[in-house]
Amino acid sequence: EKGGYQHFMAKEIMEQPKAVRDTISPRIQDGKIVLDNITLTAEQIKGFSKIFILACGSAYHVGMVAKYILEKFARIPVEVDVASEFRYRHPIIDDKVLVLVISQSGETADTLAALREAKKLGARTLSIVNVVGSSIANDSDDVIYTWAGPEIAVATTKAYSTQLAVIYLLAIYFADLLGNLSKEDYAYYVSQLQELPDKIAEILSNKEHIQFLASQFFNVKDVFFIGRNLDYAMSLEGSLKLKEISYIHSDAYAAGELKHGTISLVEDGTLVVALATQNKLFDKMMSNVKEVKARGAVVLGLTTEKNTKIEQEADHTLYIPEMCEMMLPSLAVVPLQLFAYYVASMKGCDIDKPRNLAKSVTVE
Ligand code: F6R
Repeated sequence: EKGGYQHFMAKEIMEQPKAVRDTISPRIQDGKIVLDNITLTAEQIKGFSKIFILACGSAYHVGMVAKYILEKFARIPVEVDVASEFRYRHPIIDDKVLVLVISQSGETADTLAALREAKKLGARTLSIVNVVGSSIANDSDDVIYTWAGPEIAVATTKAYSTQLAVIYLLAIYFADLLGNLSKEDYAYYVSQLQELPDKIAEILSNKEHIQFLASQFFNVKDVFFIGRNLDYAMSLEGSLKLKEISYIHSDAYAAGELKHGTISLVEDGTLVVALATQNKLFDKMMSNVKEVKARGAVVLGLTTEKNTKIEQEADHTLYIPEMCEMMLPSLAVVPLQLFAYYVASMKGCDIDKPRNLAKSVTVE
């Protein structure tokens, strides 16, 4: 049932091209995004004053990436909150707010309770869910399913990737409805989205290099992930993957925040994973890499193929293919999933069932 893989997590990582394709392709017809089961009207979408994203864990991390993407494309303010916080903080919600709930299982207790609270306050609700007929799906005004198939490994991989794919669909769909995209740009983004599965597959075909890097670092004690903008938001997930299955302490920071405190933790040999996929921020990231190197850090850089000048500063580099910047988190997360997987495997960890964790957290 593991399809020849040693762990479900490996199988599910490798299934991502198919999972993303299955999630995207039924929703693109003749070059147009079609969200046909959605009862949300164009009028309602035009009237939204705010989007509130609620989720837990990795699904929350999708929300963090989604904030950058939806604000850029839809030009609607987006707030992201962990469901267990939202419930207890007197959120400001009315019927002009779209509450977007993200959940693989559709049964996470805090997420479900937050959804119900949002509905009580009058919000319009839309959920992105993997399990058909789950409580969150049933309780939402609208659902967009991620067609990832069953996810068995406790650490999510393909659910994260398919949730992000739905975010791109929504962002392009909303941007078009709101008149924010030219015809050419619309066609460009839709075609980029259709290329996403193949680009993910390309990364997966180079997994040996990531395995080699894991062999260099599986003994480290601390890892810091740094990035800016979309890279920062995605690195939250890269960091969580590593810590939850390998038990190595790791954290993700907005690179510009380093010098406001965290850089005091960097010492000789500290591993810093520096994500620099966003062109406008590449030079800024290079400065941050120099800063941590000056304190003795070993730097693993991650960027797109054309940015070979990262090698002037980074000790090791992971390259991902070029594509439109908003979709790069979907590519960059893949080597980080594999890195976490190989590190955990070299440490002999129980990869599919990490200690203290459950697949679906149905208690508060
Ligand atoms: C981490 C992980 C968890 C879940 C979180 C929410 O790998 O899987 O952080 O993302 O428990 O679960 P769902 O998406 O089922 O609501």
